[in-house]
Amino acid sequence: MVMKIRKEDYAASLESEYQKGVMHLSETGIAKLPKKYVLPASERPNDIVDQQASNLKLPVIDFAELHGPNRPQVLKSLANACEHYGFFQLVNHGISGSVIRNMMDVSRRFFDLPFEERHKYMNPNMYSPVRYGTSFNQTKDGVFYWRDFLKLMCYPSSEMLPHWPSSPSDFRNLAVTYANENKCLFLKLMEAIVESLRLGNEKKTTEDDDGDEEEDNILRELEDGSQLMVVNCYPPCPEPQLTLGMPPHSDYGFLTLLLQDQVEGLQIHFEGKWVTIAPNPNSLVINVGDHLEIFSNGRYKSALHRVMVNSIKPRISLASLLTVPSETVIRPWRKLVDEANPRRYMDTDFATFLKYVSSREPKKKNFLESRKLT
Ligand code: OGA
Ligand code: NI
Repeated sequence: MVMKIRKEDYAASLESEYQKGVMHLSETGIAKLPKKYVLPASERPNDIVDQQASNLKLPVIDFAELHGPNRPQVLKSLANACEHYGFFQLVNHGISGSVIRNMMDVSRRFFDLPFEERHKYMNPNMYSPVRYGTSFNQTKDGVFYWRDFLKLMCYPSSEMLPHWPSSPSDFRNLAVTYANENKCLFLKLMEAIVESLRLGNEKKTTEDDDGDEEEDNILRELEDGSQLMVVNCYPPCPEPQLTLGMPPHSDYGFLTLLLQDQVEGLQIHFEGKWVTIAPNPNSLVINVGDHLEIFSNGRYKSALHRVMVNSIKPRISLASLLTVPSETVIRPWRKLVDEANPRRYMDTDFATFLKYVSSREPKKKNFLESRKLT
């Protein structure tokens, strides 16, 4: 007897196939991009505007120089990069080549594991210490993005580590080593960034004492703050011009520290155009997140960025998003607020953000927009 499959059942079975992620899909060998990933024409990477897409040279900040006699000049370059681009390349950052290579290598080996092994970590809970998933917002996206990810909560590491993948067997060790170095670098960078925000504000004497105290506070809060590592995996895509690896978005934290392999993909929105950030083997790409934009009262920009995919080479990237603990309230630094520069954002906290993203698609700068005072 021939069983007739109901159309809805067939659609539902396909839907669950897509929930398994793009690594699984590409392993099954597909020649055409399934409809589920085809973006409306206006959201595709090759629309008219992108014809002019070019490579953008980001400002380069030399972390070693920041700790030498040129600190004042480097702080100025840092301020300029955060104001105009919201992005910069960090060289001489002090994280050793082997720590970085090991982290990228073990990430690759994780995604090469059989589906059943990766699948163990698939769950929809945003508060989970470890979460494997696909697309951007897997439970909300209508059209899916060509990305699989592994999200690891890193702080406090003694509580998080036992939940991280036990396979590959060296994963936890290598990942926690990278996470710790990453956190130290972040704290030093934030010290410099807070100092750079002071520049041009020396004249201000009102409420200075409160401002200083707030500065100490923010740095202390960041020490105990949240750290999320997102390992992104973009396998080769059969029709890359029809989809994206990640939609235009901004990152929520104070800073994101991004490690990318040698394959192009990251684009930032700069002066109305999408421009590609070519990978540079010895640097980290650093970007300002929403929380720093708020703290700086809008002076530093949390810039929109997105990810393109390609048909030839798999791409791996590792984004570390760092901010204050989830219950901490983030508000514009008082030092930066006066009559000429009124407060531009309302108080916000990370927990509010998490509620926001779980209730709707966090695309574009919706969250930041929702915190703006009009
Ligand atoms: C991110 C991100 C960029 C990339 O994970 O938030 O923007 O190149 N990643 O994968
Ligand atoms: Ni991002």
